[in-house]
Amino acid sequence: MRVLQGVMFALAMICTLLVPVLGSFELVGQSIKDALAEYTLTDIMNNNQFAGIEFGEAEDGFPAFRFLQTADVKSPYRMLLPEKLYEFAILITFRQSSLKGGYLFSVVNPLDTVVQLGVHLSPVVKNSYNVSLVYTQADQNTGRKLASFGVAHAPDKWNSIALQVLSDKVSFYYDCELRNTTLVTREPIELVFDSASTLYIGQAGSIIGGKFEGYLEKINTPTLRVAALNEPSTGDLQGIRGADFACYRQGRRAGLLGTFKAFLSSRVQNLDTIVRPADRDLPVVNTRGDVLFNSWKGIFNGQGGFFSQAPRIYSFSGKNVMTDSTWPMKMVWHGSLPNGERSMDTYCDAWHSGDHLKGSFASNLDGHKLLEQKRQSCDSKLIILCVEALSQDRKRKKREIGDGSSHGESESREFKTADEYAAHLENLLL
Ligand SMILES: *[C@@H]1O[C@H](CO)[C@@H](O)[C@H](O)[C@H]1NC(C)=O
Ligand SMILES: *[C@@H]1O[C@H](CO)[C@@H](O)[C@H](O)[C@H]1NC(C)=O
Repeated sequence: MRVLQGVMFALAMICTLLVPVLGSFELVGQSIKDALAEYTLTDIMNNNQFAGIEFGEAEDGFPAFRFLQTADVKSPYRMLLPEKLYEFAILITFRQSSLKGGYLFSVVNPLDTVVQLGVHLSPVVKNSYNVSLVYTQADQNTGRKLASFGVAHAPDKWNSIALQVLSDKVSFYYDCELRNTTLVTREPIELVFDSASTLYIGQAGSIIGGKFEGYLEKINTPTLRVAALNEPSTGDLQGIRGADFACYRQGRRAGLLGTFKAFLSSRVQNLDTIVRPADRDLPVVNTRGDVLFNSWKGIFNGQGGFFSQAPRIYSFSGKNVMTDSTWPMKMVWHGSLPNGERSMDTYCDAWHSGDHLKGSFASNLDGHKLLEQKRQSCDSKLIILCVEALSQDRKRKKREIGDGSSHGESESREFKTADEYAAHLENLLL
């Protein structure tokens, strides 16, 4: 229950904070790998290659895609989504230009006959329509509406909806207010996609149809991503700044443009505070989008940071740290107490020491916990994790459409030294 409230709160927060920047998705320059982990589904239109799409503006001045009747936007779903979904949220900003409804997006089986996951708008009847979450396992032969929510129709209005899907409920937010929560039964609880499924935007394929006419600003799911540095390290990381900078550099090299920071406490920071306050209720995912923790805050609830399932953590280079021999010890440095408070005497001289006689707290991931209190000597070579200090959504800047090279301001800034990056982080996290 606490988790649920946390997530609801998170969505409410996202709305308050994000309304001005909703829709500022990556139009260009974002690698598929990056998009995958944050599910910005509208990214498949990046290359401007689809007919029946016009570029327009949303009410906040951000770019939007206009879907005409002739639009046919699709992509193999694996380009943008993970193979399974467990708990997740979907945020969509749209404006209808017809009363006939349709699919805002869908993932459809290889025969194009069953919508596995999608958000559908019913036709408008008596000035209202239903927003439905369609959710169907791969072995079923008809699509199932898992939950439906009624909305009053207003012509030419921009609408922002969010669906939060938890193990046993679906919550619906409309224009940033929680409207309703429906109890659901999901069996099995994970949605596993057929590997040859197709992701459609603004329709559900040639057989099911359901073409949406109107504008889409964006479809995405905000998260905080976690990745490991490509090599294990002793407690000598050239200080917290050195570690943060390594996260930044390796993330960039991997095409992940998030603001990564080392998952370590330090002389000046408690571990729970390295993520921006507004983002602490967001789910924490690996670089493939699998949920590791339902919320950042939840890691520090004092129970030792239990993973919601067996940890699958990948390095920036894409190796699974739990199975790859690059990391002989499956332990993570953190230097923190269970509540996120820094452990002053046990963090390898503020991450400057690889001395056998000194120590820091680490956690053995084999125990499925991230904040286990195991003292390790600083010459041990352990896993270093990096986490996004803020969700990608927060720092997006308005950008021009059609310019194949432009990047958002914050993404295009390159930091040459650890000090430069530290100053940037400090500014961001104020
Ligand atoms: C919305 O769904 C409810 C329940 O399924 C149904 O009774 C109602 O007619 C639907 N409304 C529209 C506009 O389709
Ligand atoms: C919430 O959903 C239930 C069941 O679908 C419905 O009866 C109720 O009127 C809805 N509440 C609101 C505030 O829309």
